[in-house]
Amino acid sequence: MAIITTSIALDPGTEYTRIYRAGKGLVLCEPSVCAVSLSEDGKVLYGTEALELLGRAPGKMEASSPINGGVISEVRLTSDMLADFVDRAMGKSFVRRLQVVVCVPTNATELESSAMEEAVKNAGAFRVKLLEKPLASAIGAGLPVDQCRGSMICDIGAGTADVAILSFGGVVTSRSVTNAGRAMDQSLIRLLRETRGIIIGERTAEKIKCELACAGEPPERTVTVRGRSMSTGLPASCEVSSREVCLAVRPMIQSIMLAISETLTDTPPELAGDLLDSGITLAGGVARMSGLADRIAEVTGLNVTVADDPELCAVVGAGRAIERMTEMRVGISGIPALPMRASSDC
Ligand SMILES: Nc1ncnc2c1ncn2[C@@H]1O[C@H](COP(=O)(O)OP(=O)(O)OP(=O)(O)O)[C@@H](O)[C@H]1O
Ligand SMILES: [Mg+2]
Repeated sequence: MAIITTSIALDPGTEYTRIYRAGKGLVLCEPSVCAVSLSEDGKVLYGTEALELLGRAPGKMEASSPINGGVISEVRLTSDMLADFVDRAMGKSFVRRLQVVVCVPTNATELESSAMEEAVKNAGAFRVKLLEKPLASAIGAGLPVDQCRGSMICDIGAGTADVAILSFGGVVTSRSVTNAGRAMDQSLIRLLRETRGIIIGERTAEKIKCELACAGEPPERTVTVRGRSMSTGLPASCEVSSREVCLAVRPMIQSIMLAISETLTDTPPELAGDLLDSGITLAGGVARMSGLADRIAEVTGLNVTVADDPELCAVVGAGRAIERMTEMRVGISGIPALPMRASSDC
């Protein structure tokens, strides 16, 4: 039987794992969550099914997110989860050799990168290539990364905010901070615990953040939040205003702003000049936050645009990189040293 070689791009995000199949496009987007049975049946659920149980099935199933900011806490569990996702994305119907391009944050240590590589190999890949997440996001956002011109991407996801200046197919300078979407959710949980004595779950916190958080002047809005009273242990609810939510997420926004400013300060002058034309492109789910692009534009004096489908930029970019390599008959070994088109201004 002929063995088919298939190439996929994998973006193992803190919140979602996404898979792009070369020539087909996005084929999977599942929550990066596992739920392991605490009884002897050893049942394990992955993705949406496991997410339903997160914080709702204590005593029976233990749900966890094994990936945080592109770094994995448990190789075995992550491998099993990725194997399940790859099977769902590809189907099990034929024998295949799978080569995978995986997005990793720029500041991942050698150990963290090897753990990710091992997890993906255990999930069934015969060849794995790691690609820096900002480079992938920039390709996905349609930035001209292979030209000899500076462009800037800021991918703000759940676990990390990755900021980078790119030119001539590579990352020139970058910053990665863990003060991103999840840290904002945790800050909201703390706020309600400290000011109302109510404990809320992570999913509730995320929902309020997406509804009320903004980086500019907060609108006059309040929502009712449900959780558990710390004093009585009973179900309880309270009102929370957009002003409070904005205050809770402010430290994370400041940390992202600092990463952007430091990256700009490190940028060589010629490339910095290019940014006056190209501006900054935002990717990742947090890019959707109301007022964020305007706030970054105000602080930096540059044009800031939010990419289309910002959460998908990394996986789509890694997928396009594979497709390009395949067209050139280079194979994924050519990534991330993308083929440079001779650019007229170089
Ligand atoms: N309108 C919004 N306002 C604020 N945050 C938002 C909004 N929409 C989505 N988010 C946040 O975006 C994050 C998810 O983004 P994304 O899917 O890019 O993360 P990820 O790729 O899983 O994580 P990472 O790349 O950091 O490992 C979540 O924290 C989510 O709450
Ligand atoms: Mg991401």
